[in-house]
Amino acid sequence: MCEEIARLFRQLTHGVYVIGVAHGEVCNAFTAAWMMQVSFNPLLLALSINTQHSSYGLLTCSRVFSVNVLSQDQLDLAAHFGRPAAENKLATVQWCRKLTGAPVLTGALAYFDCELSHSCPAGDHELVIGRVVDGAVLNADALPLNYRDTGDLDGSSRLYPDAF
Ligand SMILES: Cc1cc2nc3c(=O)[nH]c(=O)nc-3n(C[C@H](O)[C@H](O)[C@H](O)COP(=O)(O)O)c2cc1C
Repeated sequence: MCEEIARLFRQLTHGVYVIGVAHGEVCNAFTAAWMMQVSFNPLLLALSINTQHSSYGLLTCSRVFSVNVLSQDQLDLAAHFGRPAAENKLATVQWCRKLTGAPVLTGALAYFDCELSHSCPAGDHELVIGRVVDGAVLNADALPLNYRDTGDLDGSSRLYPDAF
């Protein structure tokens, strides 16, 4: 049954993003698929983040984050930033700071710079709503990476319950 529920949830479509966080000089970034636009006016994005991630503390302290859109040829970056921050994950990629100071990957397809608007608990995650204050398309020729093309990179197949 667990596999059936996992297969069911794999029918939902998601992109793949690297979320950049920074508090002062301390920076980090992690891969996320649970991210979507939720308002036109104001422009709002919603991100579901596991509060155990080391990025969570940085995000809630600084109240800013970036959303870096990965392209189809950046599966390696999805894997790299999907690992825990044992080492400085940003040391091996090119990045810069834009308006909010959160890390922006210069090789991303596009980025959004966000200020934390509000958040609420969402089961074993927290739903973070960010107001978009800046952003740009960085590689107009690239196509976005789809979550379904990452296979079980996030190990989520074993996280689904056996029953509803
Ligand atoms: C393809 C993929 C999608 C992921 N989506 C999310 C997500 O939407 N939310 C989340 O909290 N973690 C997600 N993760 C897990 C984090 O990227 C991972 O736990 C990471 O190690 C957290 O990094 P940190 O501890 O340095 O903050 C995803 C991982 C992968 C590989």
